[in-house]
Amino acid sequence: MPNARLVVASNRGPLSFRTGDTGALTVSRGGGGLVSALRTVLAEGDTVWVCAALSEADRAAACAAPEGRIDEAGYDTGGARVRMLAIDPQVFDRAYNGIANGTLWFTSHHLYDMARQPVFDRPWRREWAAYVEFNTAFAAALSEEAAPGATVVVQDYHLSLVPALLRERRPDVRIGWFSHTPWAAPDYFALLPDDVACALLAGILGADHAGFLTHRWADAFTDCAVRVLGAAARHGEVRYGDHDCDVGVHPLGIDGPELLERAAQPDVAARRDALVSWARGRQVVVRIDRTELSKNIVRGLLAFRELLRTRPEWHERVVHLAFAYPSRHDLPEYREYTAAVQRTAFEINEEFAAPGWQPVRLEVSDDYARSLAALSIADVLVVNPVRDGMNLVAKEGPVLSVDGCALVLSREAGAAAELAEWSLMVNPFDVTGTADAIEAGLRMPVAERRARCDALAAAATALPPQAWLDAQLAELAAGLVP
Ligand code: G6P
Repeated sequence: MPNARLVVASNRGPLSFRTGDTGALTVSRGGGGLVSALRTVLAEGDTVWVCAALSEADRAAACAAPEGRIDEAGYDTGGARVRMLAIDPQVFDRAYNGIANGTLWFTSHHLYDMARQPVFDRPWRREWAAYVEFNTAFAAALSEEAAPGATVVVQDYHLSLVPALLRERRPDVRIGWFSHTPWAAPDYFALLPDDVACALLAGILGADHAGFLTHRWADAFTDCAVRVLGAAARHGEVRYGDHDCDVGVHPLGIDGPELLERAAQPDVAARRDALVSWARGRQVVVRIDRTELSKNIVRGLLAFRELLRTRPEWHERVVHLAFAYPSRHDLPEYREYTAAVQRTAFEINEEFAAPGWQPVRLEVSDDYARSLAALSIADVLVVNPVRDGMNLVAKEGPVLSVDGCALVLSREAGAAAELAEWSLMVNPFDVTGTADAIEAGLRMPVAERRARCDALAAAATALPPQAWLDAQLAELAAGLVP
């Protein structure tokens, strides 16, 4: 019996399973902005979160639970009601790796190496068919979970077709769709086969409200809808067929108090002590990323190398902590990129290391507590993506900084829309310019750094996840008023 007043849909859900040594499944709960945004509503009891099983262990748990409802299978979900969809592994692989990450991510971040890619051929069409199947499975599950007149909020590019598919089944529900990534410029988006480009846009426009992290991405989406689909746009609304979709901007921020509370735990303190003693009083340049092609880690390291090559006065006076955590290793481009990051860090150390001084410390295994510790001691934080929906590290760093850090920030990160005024802005392709900005950060007077950092922290916490979600729900509800 469908009874959820609010249904959330995302590919990656708030829980993941692992098979322990004894063969039993154990569950762990994820963090992140969406989980913290939903904490209050999840506790209310009439919210259900629908997500995909991402691993074999997830799939086993989902298959064993009644209708995939993990919370009804006796696991500790922290009060969350979660329906996990056990999608056929081949369909999931084609939809997630082939289309969501292998095509849509490359398109929205303008990442294709255009002399060779993309190639939209018959095997690719098989992947697209799987993406349609994957989205259809979500639409069916959402339609089963949503109470009459419920609100359904769909997250991200994995589920672009869901709004229109769900509207067909359930015209009574209010549908929101939110993009956590950039949106491609129209000429770039038009690389996609025409029918696919139209299906993606029409899919999203099946929503009542489409949300983006910045005006830049919202405008790009609207331009695509007009140019590719021939939709009509006016006053923040796009009309396609006989349906109107509001296009809104919601710049997701962070929950400052929650983050600081986590950073006050003993595991973070222990790692901070270890990092401080490793740095031995030197200034610290920090970067923390998932190892994604869009994060521009290699050019960031090259900028640090250029600083050391052109300004030897910094030798032995600065260290670079670069945390590049694993991501999407099923894609060969990601594996190659990880190797390039490792090679570049190795070469810098080969060129410059001296007794007692290792210029770059690259860490590739995920350690959240160590990340918080590094952010708290950074003198300069480098966030230089070639393109990024928002980039929450740029927001977390200033909040966690103990003595005030300088932020070197790419103008292509969504966060630039809010943080540019107090940051050292860079063109992410300009390695020399990035080296100059890192040095400017290292030389910035302490009082100026402190003042800028405080302003950055205030901007970063302006729209915490809970308020971000509430604003979208309010816009969806307002749309009901004739
Ligand atoms: C990044 C993006 C999100 C996206 C996520 C998916 O964090 O900002 O928009 O949902 O990647 O990552 P995954 O590990 O699930 O492929």
